[in-house]
Amino acid sequence: MVRLFVKVGANVKVIMTPASKDFVTPLTLSTLSKNPVLSSFTDEEDENAVWNNHVELGLWADLFLIAPATANSLSKMASGNSDNLLLATYLSAKCPVYFAPAMDLDMYKHQSTINSFEILKSFGNIIIPAVSGELASGLVGEGRMAEPEDILAFIEKDILQSLPLNGKQVLITAGPTYEAIDPVRFIGNHSSGKMGFEIAKAAANLGAKVVIISGPTHEKAEHSLITVIPVQSASDMYDAVHNHFNDSDIAILSAAVADYKPKKVSIRKIKKKDSTLQLELEKTKDILASLGKIKQNKLLVGFALETNDELENAIKKLKSKNLDLIVLNSLNDKGAGFGGTTNKVIIINKNETITNYSLKSKTEVAKDIMNEILKLLDA
Ligand code: CTP
Repeated sequence: MVRLFVKVGANVKVIMTPASKDFVTPLTLSTLSKNPVLSSFTDEEDENAVWNNHVELGLWADLFLIAPATANSLSKMASGNSDNLLLATYLSAKCPVYFAPAMDLDMYKHQSTINSFEILKSFGNIIIPAVSGELASGLVGEGRMAEPEDILAFIEKDILQSLPLNGKQVLITAGPTYEAIDPVRFIGNHSSGKMGFEIAKAAANLGAKVVIISGPTHEKAEHSLITVIPVQSASDMYDAVHNHFNDSDIAILSAAVADYKPKKVSIRKIKKKDSTLQLELEKTKDILASLGKIKQNKLLVGFALETNDELENAIKKLKSKNLDLIVLNSLNDKGAGFGGTTNKVIIINKNETITNYSLKSKTEVAKDIMNEILKLLDA
């Protein structure tokens, strides 16, 4: 279970009760969790022993899972006993508490255990029920701890249900587009895709199912709620976006789409001959504007990169493309825009409310954008 939680990106600290050390060594769990294992209020064998502050531990965690939860620990939790570090931390925890009972079948069915479950549920703690199977006693019946994969799935589902974008689908465009000149050359730009991928992560962390339509990028999104659809050209991006727009509730177009592409793509590699070469370019389709025309009640967010008359130009784009929000990057601001890890944005909503944000990491900017979206959804 520790391995599973670490794998999905959680920072895990393990508390062991004294009795649990008869089943598994602290070394195993500290190796898997990549954190020291805590089991007593002080470490008696260490002369520099520090007090393991259960209050701090209880506040540190975003969620607390007690598994396997024995009849003994559950009864102590229900009665407020705090004679070991696990119980004292439990009493101090402010986060959601889940417990996965594991015990023999007769203990599981005993009225005293059922009473513990009821008391703990009345405290707001969440039970992950035991299942039927082979028990440590050799008997077969109910009382076996739910499988670790099922515990993780239970908790993920439970968290998702409480998130503000649960059930919503978000479509995001990211990165540059490459417009072919011939089989080996293209016109592109310096967009890294980082901003779009950060927005995708922020949206997924709020519970949304996210599809990113991305031009060529090194960015990766390892999140069970994010699907990446790679594309090359503006025209590929247009098609992919229109294939997914119907199913979306929110579309955020952060890609740096080429405004022009070569009118003709040479089938063969263009040979060098004359001292100059003319390429005729034609306009690509404006994906954002095309969505503005068909958006109905979907929420549509665009970006604007301006060098002069920024606010005026951004508001014009907001209106002409029928957007709910526009995120303005100014190239005049140091640290904003392409390539880097920071950005400085001004967000304007459809009521022309203007919010200026300071220079921040793109991760934080993504959260600000998602917060503006949440505000519009609530309004
Ligand atoms: N965009 C798009 N499709 C295009 C061009 C742009 O979807 N073919 C989107 C971008 O993803 C961004 C927004 O339009 O969200 C604004 O892009 P920007 O280049 O700032 O503005 P343009 O509308 O292209 O106008 P201009 O370049 O003249 O400022």
